[in-house]
Parts: sequence; structure tokens; C-alpha cells
Amino acid sequence: MTVDDAIKALSPQALKMVKNNFVVGLGSGRAATAIVRLLSSHVKKGKLMIKTIPTSLQIKMEAEKGGIPIVEADQIERIDLVFDGADQIDSNGNMIKGGGGALLREKILINIAKKVVIIADESKFVKKLNRTVPVEVHPFARNSASIQIRKLGGKPHIRLLERGYPFITENGNIILDCDFGQIKNPKELARKIIDIPGVIEVGIFSKPDVIYKVKQNGKFEILR
Ligand code: A5P
Repeated sequence: MTVDDAIKALSPQALKMVKNNFVVGLGSGRAATAIVRLLSSHVKKGKLMIKTIPTSLQIKMEAEKGGIPIVEADQIERIDLVFDGADQIDSNGNMIKGGGGALLREKILINIAKKVVIIADESKFVKKLNRTVPVEVHPFARNSASIQIRKLGGKPHIRLLERGYPFITENGNIILDCDFGQIKNPKELARKIIDIPGVIEVGIFSKPDVIYKVKQNGKFEILR
């Protein structure tokens, strides 16, 4: 069973949270894509009237394909719900996100949403966060920010595309994927990194309202 199939299995639950006239923030990646496809089938059948705000061109294209109404983030005054995935989730609900590079826009929407729902397969769950932390950095600060990150105990690596070109975010910045080993205090680390001049956003997110842990067999647990 693919992650997509497994996420489909929790559709009735997840969709119960979406009400008519909701403004829904769409994260990026596979989990968000699966949700967009479900939302699309309801919108197309006329069962649901919503507006969505995508966090990347990737999910915007999915929403367009699905015939889901899209609005710009600066045209709305509230976000009722955000659906998103995560790269890693610890036992306190702290998360690492930004594997697809959409961390800045995801953080902006998640920050103001009334409810945040995360969907992730069981391989993403760990006791303590230990994968590299994506840090979005202005290109001018590539070296200066790297020096400061090393002082915090991290090993920064500029994210590259397959053929060696730097990955550039939709906001025109680079990503430093920073290895801090096991992260004891994610919130404190995030605060220290965001204080570095030139750092635009850090891929450490705090606990969402609802986490769906999707299992290989298509079953799922609701963790919060
Ligand atoms: C996008 O930049 C990320 O934050 C994604 O939300 C994260 O990488 C999870 O993606 P998947 O749902 O594809 O695993």
C-alpha cells in the first residue's frame, strides 16, 4: 500500500474537519497532495465550497488540476485549517519540515491557522528529532550564516539539485540542510538559528493540533 492509498483510507475522518466556506491552507508534498485530491472530488461533486491557499507551485498546480478555488494569502484574513505533511515528528509533536523547500510559506500559514492537521506515515516518527534541519537563507548570507550555524554545533550543507546547481526556493533563497545530530531542545535551537542575520526561516515546527499517523496497513492513529 502506498502512502497515497493509506492517506485515502483516512479521508472520511480528515474531511469531517472541513466545513463549507472554510479557508484551507495547503502544505506541500505527498500528504498534502493526497488531501488535495480528496478535497477536489468533494468540490467537484458540489458537496464542499472552500477557498484554498497553496504553499508552493507544486501544490498550487495540484489544486488547479483538481478545480479547487485558490486565493492569495494576502487576500484573506483568516485560515480555518491547514493540511500538511512532515519530514520527522518527535514524541512531543515537534516537527522538521522543509524537505520540499516550502518551509517559509508553510510556517506563515501554520502560524495563523485556527487548526493544523499533519498527516505522516509511521516512518517519520522518532523519539527525538535527528534529521537535518532545513534553513532558508538569503544567498548573500550563504557563508556568514554557515559560520554561525557551525558555532551552534551544526554542519550546514547547501541543498543542491541533482546536477549540482543550488536549489533556489520560490522566495529566491538557498537552503542549508543542517545536521545537528540528535536535537535535545528543538524550540531553543530554532530560536537561536532564526536570530542569525540572513536566516529567513527554520524548518523546526512546534506541535500541531492533530497528527494522523498512517500505518503501512492503511490503518491510522490520531495522536493529538
Ligand atoms: C515541504 O517543504 C515539506 O515541509 C513537506 O511538508 C514535507 O517534506 C513532507 O512531505 P511528504 O508529505 O511528501 O512526506
